[in-house]
Parts: sequence; C-alpha cells; structure tokens
Amino acid sequence: MLTKYPELALDRWARKYGPLYSIRLGNQLFVILSDPGIAKDLFVTNGAIFSDRKEMFVKSQTVFAGRGVTATPYNDRWRKHRRIATIWLSQKAVDRYTPILDFEATDMIKALYADSKNGTVNINPQTYAGRCSLNNMTTITFGRRTDSIHHPLVKQALDLSREFMNTTGPMSNLVDFMPERVQKWFPWSMKTRGKKLHQGLVNTYGGFIKDIEHKMKAGIQLDDCLAKTMIEAREQEDLDDLDMAILASAFMIGGVETTASIMQWFSALIPAYPAIQRKAQEELDRVVGRDRLPTIEDEKNLPYCHAIIKEVERCHNPFWLGTPHVASEDFEYGSIFIPKGTVVVLNTWSMHYDESRWERPMKFDPDRYLPDSTLSSASANLTDPYLRDHWMFGAGRRICPGMLVAECEIWLAISRMLWAFDMSEIPGKPIDLKEYDGKSGRSPVPFVIQLKPRFEGVGKVLERERRGAESVRLRG
Ligand code: HEM
Repeated sequence: MLTKYPELALDRWARKYGPLYSIRLGNQLFVILSDPGIAKDLFVTNGAIFSDRKEMFVKSQTVFAGRGVTATPYNDRWRKHRRIATIWLSQKAVDRYTPILDFEATDMIKALYADSKNGTVNINPQTYAGRCSLNNMTTITFGRRTDSIHHPLVKQALDLSREFMNTTGPMSNLVDFMPERVQKWFPWSMKTRGKKLHQGLVNTYGGFIKDIEHKMKAGIQLDDCLAKTMIEAREQEDLDDLDMAILASAFMIGGVETTASIMQWFSALIPAYPAIQRKAQEELDRVVGRDRLPTIEDEKNLPYCHAIIKEVERCHNPFWLGTPHVASEDFEYGSIFIPKGTVVVLNTWSMHYDESRWERPMKFDPDRYLPDSTLSSASANLTDPYLRDHWMFGAGRRICPGMLVAECEIWLAISRMLWAFDMSEIPGKPIDLKEYDGKSGRSPVPFVIQLKPRFEGVGKVLERERRGAESVRLRG
C-alpha cells in the first residue's frame, strides 16, 4: 500500500483514523500529521524536539554519506551547513541574483518561442523548465550555466535528480526499515543504485568545485558562488571535500527538480483551461502591456497570475510527504505519547485536498487564492496555520531555505509563459495528468503542447529583453 503513491493510502487512513495516527514499518514507528494546527504545534512550537532527521539507509547514509543539509540529523554539522546554505538563499542574496533569474526565465521563453516555430512544432516544455531551474542553481552554486537543452550537463544533472527521486523516499524503501545488520549484508539493488548515485554526485558537482579551486589557486578571478564561499571558508568552517560536494549536491537536488516540477505542472494543466488563461492574459495586458515582460515587481499587481501559481502548487506538490522530521526526545501531545526516534510525516496531500477548507478541492480553481496576496514564504509565518496557503515547503526549523529563490524563479517563468503564449492541447494527443511515480518526487509524465505566440510582437520583445537581461547579468 505504501510502495506506490503512498500519499493516497495515508489520506485514506487519515479519513479513517483522524489527523494524527501512527503506523509501524519494519523497525520504525511513524506518526502521520494531516492537520495544520497539529503540524504547527509539533514542528514550530516544539521545533526543538521535532527537527531531527532519520538516518535513512539509502538517502542519508548512502547517497548523502551523512553530509549535506537536507538529510543531516539536528546537530552542529546541520547548523553549520544550514547557515552556509542560508547565506546563499537569504532575501539579500536573492535580491542579488534577480538578474540571473530574470535572464534565465527570458532565455527559456525565447528558446520555447524559437523551437515551437509559431505554434507549428509540438513542444514538451519539461526539459526547458528543467534547464531553466538547472541554470539558476548552477549559477548560484558554481557560477556556470548551460547554453541550450542539448548541453550534456542538462541530461546528466536531470538524470541525477531523477535517480534521486527514484531511489529515495520517506517510506517506500523497505531497506530503510530493516535492522542494520540486515542492511549491511543483504544485496539490495537500492544500495547499489544509492552508491552509484553518490558517486555520480561527487564526480559531477565535487568535480566542479575542484575545478573552481584550481582556478582560484591560479589567481583567476571568478564570479561569487556557493562553491567559492565554501572554498574560502573551508579551514574556518572545517569543511572537507565531501562536505562541499554534498552540500552543493543538496542545492542541485533540492533546487532543480522541485521548481521545474511546478513549471511543468503549470504547462500540463493550463491547456485544459482556456478561460483561466484568458483571464490571466487580460490582467497581464492591463498591468504590464505588450511591450515588455512581467517582472518580480509586477507580482503584487497581478493577483490572478499569482493565484494561478498558488493553485498549481496546492494541486501538485512535487513532494507530497516532504522530508520527514524525527522526534529527538519522548514527547506527550495531550494524551498521545510520541516516543523519541518516531518519524513524523507531514501528510500534505490530505491538507491540500481538505474538503473542510477548500470547496471542491479536486477542482483546479485559482479564484480560491484571489484574496491571498501573500508570498508562500510569508504565508508560512502566519500566526493562524489554518490560513497558510499550502504546505509545499514543509514547516518549522527545517522548512525549505530555498523558498525565496524558488518563488522568484517560478513567478518569472510562469508569468512570462502566460504573457507570451496561448497554450493548448494538441488534437489526438491528450495530456496525461498522471503523476510520475518516483519514490519521492512527483512531476508530470511526458506530454506535448502547442505554444502559439499571443501577438505579433512577442518575438521582438523577447529578443530585446533577452539582450537587455544578458547585459545586466554580465555586469552584475
Ligand atoms: C518548488 C520548489 C521547492 C520545494 C517544493 C521544496 C520543498 C522542500 C521541502 C518539503 C523541504 C523539507 C522541509 C521540512 O523538513 O519541513 C525542503 C528542504 C530543503 N530545500 Fe527545498 N524546495 C524547493 C526549492 C528549493 C530550492 C530552490 C532550494 C535551493 C537550494 C532548496 C533547498 C533545500 C534545502 C537545502 C533543504 C534542506 C533544509 C534542512 O533540512 O534544513 N529547495 N525543500
């Protein structure tokens, strides 16, 4: 029941057993939370107790080798890595990268415009979205980018992220819940794949860091990036090569497939809703006009486009079960005893499709978010957890530190797609909205759509804006 689409079984049980219940898998006790108030009580109010991670055999021990911020237990190493990650993901840092995110979004739309040839060539936008997210992360992490979807790093990096989705999951890997002595000796194929993935990450991303280190030693001036910061601080922060390779990998794994998945879900969903597209495009024409692309500053004046993004995120969280937390001490929650070592899973599927909060929750309806002008990063801090927009970024002390970057990337990509194209389904090629069944992530299965420029001047504006954005990026 939990090896395929575990969120659906957890939702069924939440309806039967309530918003807090436990299950046991092998040697591991799990508590499943399906209510915003309980999630806040445990993850936020009692964050000192509920911020640990389980040392999963495949994900934490094999792929991340006990390093990196995502899978590290709640300890001093995590604090150090989270602090370094935050330097690169804070509001101040994001303000600095805006020219990069701006350029990459425009570059993606321009590539889609060129390759779809005025709507005559059917397009699968997934690799374009993947490359856009990838370029944002490689620029922030290593100060490098790819120049087209055919660049070998695009396939290599997307394959690594996909393999991560296929081999690591909060509750689908039986090997994670076996006694250690069995894990060590049993020839699990997942163990072999986990080791291969670890090596792939170290070779690829650790290799980029080595390259940067050589250039720095040779006195070559390089753009600021996470890798450069880590190399400069390695003595002071006591970082070894593996620490740096895995922290960079956490950025590449955490920041690529996730934001790309939201752009992909948007592209898969929107062709079925021409009236929603029209309404968003009327708003864009009114506020932005047809002579320039929407920017970050425009978001507050484009409430309908903003609402479309929140609704895509509610309907298609890329990680329905997030990254589970672990209780580092025994805890009594009212009459319920949660023992130390319990894995606590945020069941966002039940929360996002909760009928008591959302009218007809299965329906894609951006209007439900029209009154909510918050950014998701701000919504996560609302005092009343029942008003939070959605739970895609997790909660508490381990909440996604990449939220600010992710929101900017997603806004620029989606608002510009709406600005540039009428997106429609191709007759005879219906879009399958099935979620890809990885062990953790959920992107759409492959699909093609038609992208027709909305008006004659689209190409010219894209050309001009790309040139402008490139010169700002290069100066910055
Ligand atoms: C749509 C985009 C994204 C989604 C849905 C997402 C989702 C998540 C979730 C659910 C968690 C676990 C939170 C928890 O434990 O409660 C997380 C953690 C994390 N995310 Fe994101 N993320 C996104 C984008 C990014 C980006 C752009 C980065 C940039 C590097 C990033 C880096 C990380 C890191 C490093 C962690 C580990 C935090 C820790 O354990 O302390 N994420 N993310």
